[in-house]
Amino acid sequence: SAQDAKAGEAVFKQCMTCHRADKNMVGPALGGVVGRKAGTAAGFTYSPLNHNSGEAGLVWTADNIINYLNDPNAFLKKFLTDKGKADQAVGVTKMTFKLANEQQRKDVVAYLATLK
Ligand code: HEM
Repeated sequence: SAQDAKAGEAVFKQCMTCHRADKNMVGPALGGVVGRKAGTAAGFTYSPLNHNSGEAGLVWTADNIINYLNDPNAFLKKFLTDKGKADQAVGVTKMTFKLANEQQRKDVVAYLATLK
C-alpha cells in the first residue's frame, strides 16, 4: 500500500538508536538524506563501502533507500559491482541494522523525506 509518513515516524524510533536528523551520532545525520549523494553528511567518517558507493554515483533516492534498508551490505556491493567496481565491493558497512518489512521501509522513507 501507499507510503505513510506518520507510520514512518514510529518506525524511525528504531533508527534513532544511531541517527538524528540534525547531527551525526553513531550514524550520519539523516535530515535531507532523500536526494543526497551517498557518503556526504558533513563531518561523518564513513566506511569505504559507503563512501565509494557515493563516489561511484549512488544517490539516495526513495527507491534506493527502500532497497538498501533490506540489506545494506548486499545493496552497496551490488551497486558497486553493477558499476564495474567489484574491486571496491569489499568490507562491510558500519550500518549493522536491517529492516525486513517492506511496508515499514516504504513508510520510514516517506518520513525521511519530511526531514530537513
Ligand atoms: C548509514 C538510514 C538504522 C547506523 C545510513 C544511511 C542511511 C541510513 C540512508 C546512509 C547515509 C549516507 O550515505 O549519508 C537508516 C534508517 C534506519 C537506520 C532509515 C532505520 C530504519 C540504523 C541503526 C544504526 C545505524 C539502528 C546503528 C545500529 C548507521 C551507520 C551508518 C549508517 C553507522 C554509516 C554506514 C557506513 O559508513 O558504512 N543509515 N539507518 N543505522 N547507519 Fe543507518
